[in-house]
Amino acid sequence: MIPELPGLIILILVATIISLVLLRQLAITRFELKREAAEMKLFRARIQAVETDRKKAMETPSAWNGLRKFRVDRKEHPSENICSFYLIPHDRKPLPAFLPGQYLTFQLDSIPGQVKPTLRCYSLSDCYRPDYYRISVKRVCAPADQPDLPPGIGSSFLHDQIEIGSLLDVMAPNGNFSINPEDSSALVLIGGGIGITPVLSMFNAIIETGSQREVWFFYGVRNPSENILKEMLKELNHSIADRPNLHFQVCYSEPVDNPDALLPYERHKTHVSIKLLSSLLPSNNYEFYSCGPPPMMKAIKEDLRAWNVPARSIHEEVFPCRAENRQTHNNNEHPEVSVDFRKSGKQIMFSGECQSLLDLARDNDIGIASACEVGSCGTCVSAIVAGNVEYFQEPSWKDESQLIDEGLCLPCVCLPNSEIIIDQ
Ligand SMILES: Cc1cc2nc3c(=O)[nH]c(=O)nc-3n(C[C@H](O)[C@H](O)[C@H](O)COP(=O)(O)OP(=O)(O)OC[C@H]3O[C@@H](n4cnc5c(N)ncnc54)[C@H](O)[C@@H]3O)c2cc1C
Ligand code: FES
Repeated sequence: MIPELPGLIILILVATIISLVLLRQLAITRFELKREAAEMKLFRARIQAVETDRKKAMETPSAWNGLRKFRVDRKEHPSENICSFYLIPHDRKPLPAFLPGQYLTFQLDSIPGQVKPTLRCYSLSDCYRPDYYRISVKRVCAPADQPDLPPGIGSSFLHDQIEIGSLLDVMAPNGNFSINPEDSSALVLIGGGIGITPVLSMFNAIIETGSQREVWFFYGVRNPSENILKEMLKELNHSIADRPNLHFQVCYSEPVDNPDALLPYERHKTHVSIKLLSSLLPSNNYEFYSCGPPPMMKAIKEDLRAWNVPARSIHEEVFPCRAENRQTHNNNEHPEVSVDFRKSGKQIMFSGECQSLLDLARDNDIGIASACEVGSCGTCVSAIVAGNVEYFQEPSWKDESQLIDEGLCLPCVCLPNSEIIIDQ
């Protein structure tokens, strides 16, 4: 029987529509598959490029001796008081790799009012890239309660006098506060204020290597206005969206006006504390790396110890605070001893009024070169001719017993505990 004409037309129309829909779906699926394959290819190429760069860098000499000239290629202001400097070697030779968390030491010459060069350390704030090193420097102002004091010498000079094209004298990457991105242990990285720079370098290195390692990254500041790297952190959070092993949290310790406007990775009224860590982490079985202002570091260290984290798993770096050091010092219980600076021909009586042997020298116009002032770079190393010192901060350049065996001391982190003669 021949179907009636209208029925036949409807049948043909329905069949055509179904075929068209199926063909379209097929085309979409093919397109999606092609896109995924292209993305995967790109991803593999990126990983391959990172691997090649790292291998190339590993083959180049790991560092240089003394000073090397770097040209400022780019300056960026991620916030009002922070300036990031992108540095490329003036000699155009390859850039050696460094371990994430390490720092560069700068010899800043020709600072107005300074007779001698000023040495300052700045952490590398990005992971290794073959084209540049990056540092991010916070402008240090006079303390709020002493506005008449001069602002920070090194940071002001870098912010105000160093422009694109300026040359800087730089010592090779250094420091033990660092990770090997290829290790597999789970990590907790904690940065407070400008102390975020070395841990940011560590986190970026983990992201770049495509590591499957479990990593928690916490950034603690008082309020959003102190979140100095807002835009950079937004990008960072975006780049880990499809990496379930990587976690990132910004903690504002103070309440914010509009909590609903916080981004999913932002919390308020929250310190980076044991309360927070133990509520998020399944155990305390991590390597902890933290860098921040001294009070935060002290609290975190005490918390971690109270949480039974072994001392060997707690790694920290403190940026020195000369203003605080000068203001908070109160060591008047110290017995009076004589300190003989042999080369300078000066003998000083010391009874506890200085923060460190370095400060004692400085207050008496005895020049001892220094850079980190936290016992990690070795710049201030001095030979002890006679007598003993005691360390108020554990040095990381060499450990205390090694320094004693070699008849050396690091004046930035020790005080005399007997009559002493040092070769300065
Ligand atoms: C390993 C390491 C890594 C670091 N990484 C970074 C980093 O990534 N980014 C960063 O920004 N910093 C970093 N720092 C800190 C940096 O090295 C400097 O310490 C910081 O920039 C301040 O140096 P400055 O010369 O600007 O200030 P300084 O000249 O040292 O002055 C510091 C403070 O002392 C005050 N002051 C001046 N005179 C007196 C006085 N007579 N009495 C009392 N106070 C006085 C100043 O007003 C200022 O507030 C790092 C430090 C170390 C050790
Ligand atoms: S100044 Fe760096 S160890 Fe003393």
